Amino acid sequence: MNAQTLKQQAAERAAALVESGMVVGLGHGSTAMYVLRHLARLLHDGRLLDIRGVPCSVHVEEEARELGIPLIQLDDCRAIDITIDGADEVDPHLNLIKGRGGALLREKIVAQASRREVIVVDESKLVPVLGTHWPVPVEVVTFGWRAQVAYLETLGARPVLRKVNNGTPFRTDQGNLILDCHFGPIADPIRLATQLDGRAGIVGHGLFLGLATDVIAAGEQGIRHLTRA
Ligand code: A5P
Repeated sequence: MNAQTLKQQAAERAAALVESGMVVGLGHGSTAMYVLRHLARLLHDGRLLDIRGVPCSVHVEEEARELGIPLIQLDDCRAIDITIDGADEVDPHLNLIKGRGGALLREKIVAQASRREVIVVDESKLVPVLGTHWPVPVEVVTFGWRAQVAYLETLGARPVLRKVNNGTPFRTDQGNLILDCHFGPIADPIRLATQLDGRAGIVGHGLFLGLATDVIAAGEQGIRHLTRA
């Protein structure tokens, strides 16, 4: 089975957790896109009624509109019942690295506003320790961004400015830059997150600690549903 098939399986299993009448956080990325398409099918078949989505990015908002999924602004709802989103890495405590798609700030705002944060992955994303395969994306404001590079280096990172195909810097939905920070395996993610959270000019980072309530991981041997202890 290829990775796309596994992503789709995890996505459809997670979409089954959505009930009629719920407010649903709509994650960003290729796995979350399978969730979006499946939710649209359930709505169109009448198997799901009256859900409203809170998109984690401008791109997801456009896709959801195209698919006919009713939307609501985060500011117009008291809480999100369930959010389903992807991840780049998942450790045994269900801590995550997210943000390869660039939507990390809105994803974290939506995750923190959600009663349940369900992460959908193929099993290649399960790692013994965060930083095993992927850098930590760090979103910084343009003003003084090189000062953030120097700061991140003092934390042991090798920061790389994210660029798009034509070589210009990638811009987030907020107009900010992303520094992909290669740390290697991260021994103390809580300490690192605290160091990133406390720095002016850093507006977000891809360490999602203690936020995921569920992880649905699809692999060759079947689908595993992990929950936070
Ligand atoms: C988007 O900013 C990311 O956090 C994605 O959710 C994450 O990169 C996983 O993406 P895929 O589902 O495309 O692997």
